[in-house]
Amino acid sequence: MLISLYNSNICLINTKTESYEVSEIIELIKKVPKAELHLHIEGSLEPELMFGLAKRNKIKIPFRSVDEIKTAYNFHNLQSFLDIYYQGAKVLISEQDFFDLTWAYLLKSKEDNVVHTEIFFDPQTHTDRGIKFDLVINGIHRAILKAEKELGISSKIIMCFLRHLDEQSAFKTLDQALTHKDKIIGVGLDSSEVGYPPSKFERVFNKAMEEGFLTVAHAGEEGPPEYIWEALDLLKVKRIDHGVRCLEDEKLVQRLKDDQIPLTVCPLSNVKLCIFKKLKDHNLKKLLNKGLIAMVNSDDPAYFGGYLNTNLIECQMALNLTKEDIKRLVINSFRSSFLSEDEKKKWIDQINYLV
Ligand code: ADE
Ligand code: ZN
Repeated sequence: MLISLYNSNICLINTKTESYEVSEIIELIKKVPKAELHLHIEGSLEPELMFGLAKRNKIKIPFRSVDEIKTAYNFHNLQSFLDIYYQGAKVLISEQDFFDLTWAYLLKSKEDNVVHTEIFFDPQTHTDRGIKFDLVINGIHRAILKAEKELGISSKIIMCFLRHLDEQSAFKTLDQALTHKDKIIGVGLDSSEVGYPPSKFERVFNKAMEEGFLTVAHAGEEGPPEYIWEALDLLKVKRIDHGVRCLEDEKLVQRLKDDQIPLTVCPLSNVKLCIFKKLKDHNLKKLLNKGLIAMVNSDDPAYFGGYLNTNLIECQMALNLTKEDIKRLVINSFRSSFLSEDEKKKWIDQINYLV
């Protein structure tokens, strides 16, 4: 009896100590300045805004309520998500809609203490429905200018090609981007992965690089390590979006380390799309332990259950991330961003001071 009481006391003390440390780490996650490098602006369309825009633009959506939308967000793979995501994007019609969408994301970012964002947009999702490219980019750009002034958040815009569409469509999209070079820092590759290897877009990416765009690509989310090799060797990417399947290939891990190629990992997305069964199974910590430059992002927060802080907090709890892990993750984001070296240093110095 005495022994068991003694044991349970020890247990209580341990629990107390642990819970104190966890809450301290969560506070740190909230207050530390952060950057987000993997965010699809169309994936930040919250159900409430979707309803509002559907009404404003007199567009029929196949849902009667916000709750009905939320129940529909049960995905079994990437494609099952994309089918709903492209459906949702149909409510976006005017420049004001793209402004409102982006502004709403930037307000959420402010709440999370995100000070720098690199935002993906998918022009073909809109131009294929007859929406003008210029209107899309101008709406997004107007919101990021306002956020720079009023919220103190800096942003870059990355234009993604949809890999399920053909090379000709990607070339046409690149052409449309040329008059907006001042607003778009780079090009990326997204949408259905398996069956659409990066090699399909080698020529488009070459042209984009000639025009001065930086390159990134989704690879190794659902697709095999070979797609990551292709993104590196053929598309000359500066970062791999997702890349979680790299651990299946030791030589690839070495290459990513040698070339210091960051992985923009999206943990809640990976669980929602069944890449990992549970967050506890996610390989984020393994990626860090291998010495890879990984960081946490939200991908499509309106569909996957959380913005950047929620992703970080849930990872901390599921994977027992330490203060040092969190520090590394947030420093990795700034280090991997397309900010100038001076700007990177400014934020990393602040993090070093804080943590
Ligand atoms: N488009 C939006 N989210 C995506 C994801 N997680 N993978 C590929 N394409 C996407
Ligand atoms: Zn993505």
